[in-house]
Amino acid sequence: MELCGWVHARRDHGGVTFIDLRDTSGLVQIVFNPETSRGAHDAAQDLRAEYCVRVSGQVRARREGTLNPKLATGEIEVAADSLELLSSAETPPFQIDDLQETDELLRLRYRYLDLRRERMQSNLKLRHAIISSIRRFFDSEGFVEVETPMLTRATPEGARDYLVPARVHPGSFYALPQSPQLFKQLLMVAGLDRYYQIARCFRDEDLRADRQPDFTQLDMEMSFVEAEDVLEITERMFTQVWREVMGVELDPFPRLTFAEAMERYGTDKPDLRYGMELSDLSPAFAGSAIKIFRSVLEGGGSIKAIVLPGGAGLGRKELDGLVDEARALGAGGLIWVAVTSEGLKSPLAKLFTDQEKAGLLQSSSAGEGDLVLIVADARDRVVYKVLGALRTRLAQRFSLIPDTDPSTAEAWRFAWIVDFPWFDYNDEANQWDPIHHPFTGVVEDTLQYLETDRSKVLSKSYDITLNGWELASGSIRIHDVSMQQRMFDALGISKQEAEEKFGFLLDAFRFGPPPHGGIAPGIDRIVALAAGEGNIREVIAFPKTQSAGDPLTGAPTPVDEDQLRALHLRSTISPQFNANSGSNRGKNEEGSGERP
Ligand code: AMO
Repeated sequence: MELCGWVHARRDHGGVTFIDLRDTSGLVQIVFNPETSRGAHDAAQDLRAEYCVRVSGQVRARREGTLNPKLATGEIEVAADSLELLSSAETPPFQIDDLQETDELLRLRYRYLDLRRERMQSNLKLRHAIISSIRRFFDSEGFVEVETPMLTRATPEGARDYLVPARVHPGSFYALPQSPQLFKQLLMVAGLDRYYQIARCFRDEDLRADRQPDFTQLDMEMSFVEAEDVLEITERMFTQVWREVMGVELDPFPRLTFAEAMERYGTDKPDLRYGMELSDLSPAFAGSAIKIFRSVLEGGGSIKAIVLPGGAGLGRKELDGLVDEARALGAGGLIWVAVTSEGLKSPLAKLFTDQEKAGLLQSSSAGEGDLVLIVADARDRVVYKVLGALRTRLAQRFSLIPDTDPSTAEAWRFAWIVDFPWFDYNDEANQWDPIHHPFTGVVEDTLQYLETDRSKVLSKSYDITLNGWELASGSIRIHDVSMQQRMFDALGISKQEAEEKFGFLLDAFRFGPPPHGGIAPGIDRIVALAAGEGNIREVIAFPKTQSAGDPLTGAPTPVDEDQLRALHLRSTISPQFNANSGSNRGKNEEGSGERP
């Protein structure tokens, strides 16, 4: 047989040379024995790590005692009778070995070497398998894949745009699409009633473990449907992908309303693999003499808690650390209560009445050995944000997430989050913004609150979450021009502004737009979770660093004056500054980013 690949390792043993040859299917041991072929054995003496070679020889069972159970091919080897050196290699900057922890900047700079590693090869193959399965599914359901433009104008997802100067239109810019949102709606007006696309999207936003500036969505849209239809087909698609690719039969996705997700988990992307749900202590402290509780309840706020199982033994330093963490998240403070065999220990313990103590234990379901963490605030959103974040962090820190077998449905806790509010109050700007984009449909019964209490206006949108990550977002859209106008008015978007930004869509809606809706799951997030990776960079062939740089190509780079002039641009950054940064290859600073 003939094999082509790279020298992973070489060993000499009793006059015989062994190499582990690596190709995309894995490793195999090649034996160069001078008695089989002196020429091949001699040539093998020059081999070094990462040399690219072609070997031919006979496959045979390994001798008893030399089997390697760690290797898929550990029971066989290839006795080489010829060796051809295809190309040599310099000493690589790191060893191509899955067990080696290599500096991420170096990995990205030499990404083509990093991608030779088995783990990275298997991530890219998994990505391919998932995308193939998605395409098969939509094909069998009669969807048509349509590409939409990369050079376009701003889309409404709310992040900063990447702009591209238009040489032939001095002073004008294209925007790279943040998503195909407006084009897929135009395709519905165009009569393609089942569209999908594996679409590249671009957003200039703060990067995190689950965010890249340049990422991929499975974007889809359907006409003549209700939310229920989109939910049904999307869930069926995920079920098929997990069955085909992961060999797992998923349970039906539970549905949580946004309000329920917030009340129980403090977040709209709850990790359902563990409990630690929020409990409401407000009734237990109603009428309390404790000042902080009284003022919060009088101010219309709430007192809520989570329980850290077995946390009563934490030391003073760790407890102070938790209080600092809560403050950094926006809480005024954090009250801890340790449930011990000698009673409750807490900075407030002396102030609790017996009735309050009993109420606290009952409402939180805390038992001996547990730690209750309480946040009281006049604003529910602060209580949720702080407890939701602490719940996630503590579950990770104290290893409370069950180590489920990925070949079982328990490992994959998908959920639908439904009944989102349409508006979100923006404290900084003192205004109501849309939670999703301004084309999101409104639940008719809740329109009555538009003028009275916007927090009660619900949208026809839905998200999919998986194990604490937001995987997908979508909605039924507004297709009625007057309804759209009403929502623009509510957002304070003037007719002129709407016309400028989205005039082409509003124009299209004058020509018989069908009712429509869709969803867009993030491919990078799906693959990262399926691969068991904590950062989407691990499933993207050529990702960017935390500071949106590419250490491999050096992008972004300054460009020369002539190029700027041709684009009718002038840099406001001084030339000296630019001169030093002709190439950013390998220079982008790094940080691996927190979990989302
Ligand atoms: P949304 O903005 O919620 O909705 O995005 C949908 C999904 O895309 C993924 N995603 C990202 N993945 C990696 N890096 C990023 N920077 C990033 N931003 C988003 C997430 C997210 O759930 N047009 C609407 C969809 C619709 O209404 O049909 C949209 O783009 O998985």
